Amino acid sequence: MVPRVQGRLPIAVLVSGTGTNLQALLDTVHGHEAEVVAVASSVAGVPALERAAKHGVPIAVFPRKEYADRKARDQAMADWLRERGARLVVLAGYMELLGEALLGRFPDATINVHPSLLPAFPGLGAIEQALAYGVKVFGVTVHFVDAGIDSGPVILQRAVELRDARDPEQVLEALRPLEHALLPEAVRMFARGALSVDPENQRRIVVEG
Ligand code: GRF
Repeated sequence: MVPRVQGRLPIAVLVSGTGTNLQALLDTVHGHEAEVVAVASSVAGVPALERAAKHGVPIAVFPRKEYADRKARDQAMADWLRERGARLVVLAGYMELLGEALLGRFPDATINVHPSLLPAFPGLGAIEQALAYGVKVFGVTVHFVDAGIDSGPVILQRAVELRDARDPEQVLEALRPLEHALLPEAVRMFARGALSVDPENQRRIVVEG
């Protein structure tokens, strides 16, 4: 899917909030298979930015309201990420849609972590949607990002059975470790050039090795 990069893969992480998934990347792949070269947030003052700063990673904030429209914001953000040398963009709790102005600059190189087993429960409030539906198995998906809402090809998924779940916090607590394992795993796969698209089914990501 991408040409293999010599040495560590330069990655950018987009955030909007707490940043526990960013922390998982900083604690695992950063300085090993990958180098987090930029952290961009849609919101100022969030804990995710502090986590990045603590690791000496350059940070920037791109609030939507400071730009004429989403396209202008995405363009400015993409320019900064490219300047920083990013080859992969990782959405880790980034709470806004991305358009072609950014995705087109990182073709087949933007991934996201989502707290449901897609295609079930895309978009905001995935855990609340799953609870309202009454499911017994919850889970996490890491997928490539396209212009739709959590609709790109799936890279990794993991499930957990929670028969009596009622509380979103309880489900989130159960899903956190899954997210924190799967997102770094997907970055490692990408970094070693192990991901490709099945020519017979463009939705299917093949993992080599
Ligand atoms: C995670 O649950 C992720 O799946 C979703 O947003 C949340 C971000 O959490 N996309 P954090 O900011 O990484 O702690």
